[in-house]
This record gives sequence, C-alpha cells and structure tokens, in this order.
Amino acid sequence: MATGTEYDDVYRRSLHDPEGFWAAAATGIHWDRPWDDVLDRTSAPFYRWFAGGQMNTCYNALDRHVDAGRADQTALIYDSPVAGTSAAYTYRELRDAVATFAGALHAQGVRRGDRVVIYLPMVPEAAIAMLACARIGAVHSVVFGGFAASELAKRIADARPVVVVSASCGIEPNRIVEYKPLLDAAIEQVEVKPRRCIILQRPQLTAELHQPRDISWLDAIAGVPPADCVPVEATDPLYILYTSGTTGQPKGIVRDNGGHAVALHWSMRHVYGVEPGEVFWTASDVGWVVGHSYIVYAPLLAGCTTVLYEGKPVGTPDAGAFWRVIAEHGVRVMFTAPTAFRAIRQQDPDGTHITRHNPSTLRALFLAGERCDPETLRWAEEKLAVPVIDHWWQTETGWAIVATCLGIEHTPVVPGSPGRPVPGWDVRVLDDRGADLPAGQTGALVVRLPMPPGAAPTLWNADERFRETYLSAFPGYYQTADAGYVDDDGYVFVMARTDDIINVAGHRLSTGAIEEVLAQHPDVAECAVIGAADDLKGQLPVGLMVLKAGVDRPDQEIVAEAVQLVRDRIGAVAAFKTAAVVARLPKTRSGKILRATMRKIADGREYTTPPTIDDPAILDEISGSLRKAGYPAAPR
Ligand code: COA
Ligand code: AMP
Repeated sequence: MATGTEYDDVYRRSLHDPEGFWAAAATGIHWDRPWDDVLDRTSAPFYRWFAGGQMNTCYNALDRHVDAGRADQTALIYDSPVAGTSAAYTYRELRDAVATFAGALHAQGVRRGDRVVIYLPMVPEAAIAMLACARIGAVHSVVFGGFAASELAKRIADARPVVVVSASCGIEPNRIVEYKPLLDAAIEQVEVKPRRCIILQRPQLTAELHQPRDISWLDAIAGVPPADCVPVEATDPLYILYTSGTTGQPKGIVRDNGGHAVALHWSMRHVYGVEPGEVFWTASDVGWVVGHSYIVYAPLLAGCTTVLYEGKPVGTPDAGAFWRVIAEHGVRVMFTAPTAFRAIRQQDPDGTHITRHNPSTLRALFLAGERCDPETLRWAEEKLAVPVIDHWWQTETGWAIVATCLGIEHTPVVPGSPGRPVPGWDVRVLDDRGADLPAGQTGALVVRLPMPPGAAPTLWNADERFRETYLSAFPGYYQTADAGYVDDDGYVFVMARTDDIINVAGHRLSTGAIEEVLAQHPDVAECAVIGAADDLKGQLPVGLMVLKAGVDRPDQEIVAEAVQLVRDRIGAVAAFKTAAVVARLPKTRSGKILRATMRKIADGREYTTPPTIDDPAILDEISGSLRKAGYPAAPR
C-alpha cells in the first residue's frame, strides 16, 4: 500500500522535535506575552505547554478576526428545525454578544478562575456563555442536557460554580425537556450552592424563577458594560468537562488555554483541510468534547463559519435534514458520529434525500465518537461521493489521536481503521507487561508521553486520580483504555474499550455507574450491566439483576422500576430500556462477574466457558434470560 511521504515527513518532525513543531504552530495564535518554555517538563509525567505565555482564547476566537477584517463574515449559523428558527451572527455581532454576556457574568461576581456551569440546549447562547467565560478567564463546565438532576448535581458539587447558566427548556422531537426543575433539584442536592442562576427563557416555555437566586438572561445583560478580554496564563484552565469514569463519580477533564488553542487552530487546516472563511459543521452537542472543540472553539479560532444545529439526523423532519443544512449553508466539511449515518441509512437506504437536496458544497465528511463500521463508511462514501474520514479521539485528548490528515496529504482510507497517528501523537501497542507488540497483534493502545498540546493536563482537583487512571499502568505512557492494533502500514485499528465504558449513540457511558443506580433499587441484591451490540446506536446497556431473597413481586414490575430509576438518576441519554431478572450471575471462583462472556452471549457471538467459572450451568440460564429480553437482537 502506498504511504504518503508528506505525511511521514510531518509526523516524524512532530515527534523528533515537539518543541520546535508546536512553537511553529503557536504562531497561528495571538500571544499577549510569549512563553518561557514551549514545553515545561519539570513536573513529568505532568507536562505544561507554553508555560509562562499569556493569551486569551476568546480574543483569538473572535476579536482577532474582527480586527483582521472578518468583522462582517458570518461566525455562527444557528439552525433549529425543532424550534423552527435560524439565525446568523457575524464575527462582530458574536464578539459583541459575548462581551455583553461576559459583562453580565462579571456583574454577578464571576472573576478569573471562578467556575461557571453551563447547562443549556443547542442554542447560540451556549457558545456565547462558553466564550464569555473564556473572555474573563472564568472556567466553564458544560453539562449535556440529556443528563438527570443527580448527574448535574455531581458536576456542580465538584466544580463549585459561582454561577450556573441554564435555560427554561430543551426541545427533543417528541417532547419539551424542562431544564429548570432539573436544575432546582440538582442545586437542592449540593452542599455548596451557586450564588446565581442565569436562565434563558425560551419562547416554548417560561421557567419559574426563584428570587433572589435566579435571574433571566435578558435581565442579566440589561445595562451591563461589556467586558474586555483578560490575558490568562497559557496553562490556566479554560474548561472542565466531566466524562464517564469506571465509577459513578465522573472525571473532570481539564483543558488549558494555550495548548488547546494552538492544537485546535492547527488541526483545522492540517487534519480537516479547512481554510479560514469556509463553513464547517459539526453535528453533535456542545455538552460533549466534540462540540466543545469543533462546534465552538476550533472553527472560530480558525476564522471559519460554524454551524450550531439543534436537531437530529432523522425525524426533524426526515432523513434529509443533514443534506438540507449542508446545501442551505454551503457547508464544506462536516463532522458527526457514525450512529447518525446509520440512522439516516436505515430510513433512506437509497439516499433519495441526498439527490433531493444536492449537498454539492461538501468536500469531506469526518466521523468519530465510536467505532465506524465499514458498511456505514462505504455507504456514506458512495452516496456523498466525497472522502469519508473516520478518526479516533477521546474527551481526554481533546482532538484527534489518529486520522487521515486531509490538510497534509490525502493518504488512502482503510475501512475499519481511523487511519494513522496525527502528528504529535506517538501511538504504541503494548502487552500487559508494557512491552511493545509487533504489527497486527492486539494490545493496549497507549500514547508515549509527552502528549501534544490540547491533551488534558490533569483532572480537576485530582492530580492523583489522573496519574492513577491514565499514567500508572504503563509508566511513560498515557493509557487510552482502548485496545487495538497497528498494521504493517501503520494504520491503527481501535477495537474495544478495556474498561467498563460503553458507547451508546456516540455517547460515552459507564456501565459501572448504571450498576450503582440499579443496586439502589430496594429489591436488587446484585447486578451487572453489559453493553450489547445494537445496529443503530452501536451499543445499548442491558441490565441483569439478582433479587434479594424473599422478594415476591412480578419481575416485569421490578424491571420497569429499574429502568425508570436509571432514567431518573442518570438521564434519558443512558437509553437504558432493557433489564432481566436472573437467579444468579456467572462468576469466577474468586467472585469476579464474567461480564465479557455475558456480552458475547448477548451479541450471539461464540464464547468458551471460562475455566475459572464457579458453575458453568449459569451461562445457559443467562442465555435464556437474555433471549427473553430480546438478545441477541434482530437487525432493525
Ligand atoms: N436533552 C434531553 N434529552 C436528550 C438529549 C438532550 N440534549 N439528547 C438526547 N436525549 C434523549 C432522547 O430524547 C432520548 O429520549 P427517549 O428515551 O425519551 O426517546 C434519549 O435521550 C436517548 O437519546 P439518543 O440515544 O440520542 O437516541 P435518539 O433515539 O433520540 O436518537 C440518534 C438516535 C442516532 C438519531 C441520535 O443519537 C444522534 O443523532 N446521534 C448523533 C451522535 C452524536 O451527537 N454524538 C455525540 C458525540 S460526536
Ligand atoms: P469520548 O470521550 O466520549 O469521545 O469517547 C471516547 C471513546 O470513544 C474512545 O475511547 C473510543 O472507545 C471511542 N471512539 C471514539 N472515536 C472512535 C473511533 N473513531 N473508532 C473507534 N472508537 C472510537
């Protein structure tokens, strides 16, 4: 197979001289004070990029472009089929809206380093609030709207925000999601309460405001002087984004200002092949890392036009929604999760909607967030007739670890692989003892330290947890918790998580967290949650519950309560709809639940009875229970 020499050259340079490579990339950013060290290695394995440098992320995303002649270029297009509205902001308009809201935050007592939790649906105010925090050096923590009150509470308790910014409601195709009662319940649960809640009242629903804590968005901005950009340390936190860990306590991924801005700015041209002034669309949610990086920060840092879409790939109103957005706004490069394409393909296998809308401006499609099955990739390639690029990354890394870098060289795409390591990322495959594995052999996918700019420097208030979770298993490497292999041509194949994280419709969930909720049901003695294969969402959580002795109620009743409990405690996004009551769980003689074997049974894959199992007969019982619960699932 041909391998690109251009790519090889850039990649080699990035690893051979990371300081030189990223110092050159950093010239794409405006610095208020130059850095002392490109990379401060003195606290290894904790690394700090651009130590001593000062800059402001919001200035680089907005003001700089206004000053450099892009004031009248569209910065952000809001397109909402669910609200039936759309709007556009030029760079000047967006800068002014952000400066005003930054003034409002300041007026409510938010100062540099203070945290602001943002719990908003996909409205422009979400991006405005994020950029306003960046403007005054406050640290935002965005919480996805599909989470329940107790998940929101965990994040508020950990981040201790001075202010929470929220809205009266979100809009799902089948219902209005009232945000305010969820926010009130979350605040009720936390010890240290936010001083103020700024609530965006949407036309679809007016929320009840509790004085003096709550203030409407309009009242908050009324008459306040706009706030200017405050230079911050490159190493200061820009945001905290909580993501699923192996327990119910989410991990607060920290992103710095300087390294993040440099990496994302660089990625727009080199990974995505996008030039300033072009329209870039990421169909995701600002509550996820993909939304942080590629709806808000990267496109604006690069002087592009970004699209903020409040809708779904199907049902708003049909499977042509994406093609309409592309055609209407002249999108050049799009980014979404494979699950969105599986949903479209299911409803419109022949791609008739594509012909109807003619999305001919599109130059490339990028997919990430979960493993991309080759059929979906091929379908998208054939129907759209543009390169379809799978790429692999994580909340922790902030941007792509492995991709085909369209802006460097369009090397061949290998279906099933997200491509080759992006410059800056030294990807290795190790065995259990930390030895390098040869090409083709599956092991732990790790990144040799230091990671490039943009990767999380630590966890919020939890350096030790960061070290323990990511850096301790393989000293000198970052453990991705994905398993996979690299082939002879250097293509990386990402096969599965090595922990109990599952990926449901591109959303990252912890089966451990769901188990913690099920265990709270008064009738449940013990339980296990597995991620079963689903041909639309990739995986779906399935619960297996053993009841306490003496419980004498119909199984269906308990299952229905368990499903509701997960919806109430974690949220609708968990998509937890299936559970079965079983007599026993299969375990090893040392008491470890055999989740991997149950997963194979649920997926209808071949399995061997583990030699350490305490009673092999249990597997037949589990198989029978899973069959009754609909697994292995028939294709939808
Ligand atoms: N606020 C409140 N509820 C939300 C929500 C939000 N922001 N997002 C999703 N939900 C709810 C949904 O309404 C659904 O509720 P229901 O059980 O009452 O039907 C539940 O959470 C599960 O949502 P989801 O898994 O997204 O399923 P869906 O059937 O609504 O949509 C897809 C399926 C494939 C169309 C959808 O998942 C999708 O567009 N995915 C794109 C992938 C993506 O954005 N990934 C992010 C990382 S790149
Ligand atoms: P998140 O932190 O939500 O972005 O989820 C990260 C996880 O999603 C990774 O650790 C992988 O397990 C999975 N993932 C993301 N992108 C890909 C991809 N392109 N191929 C395979 N798995 C992926």
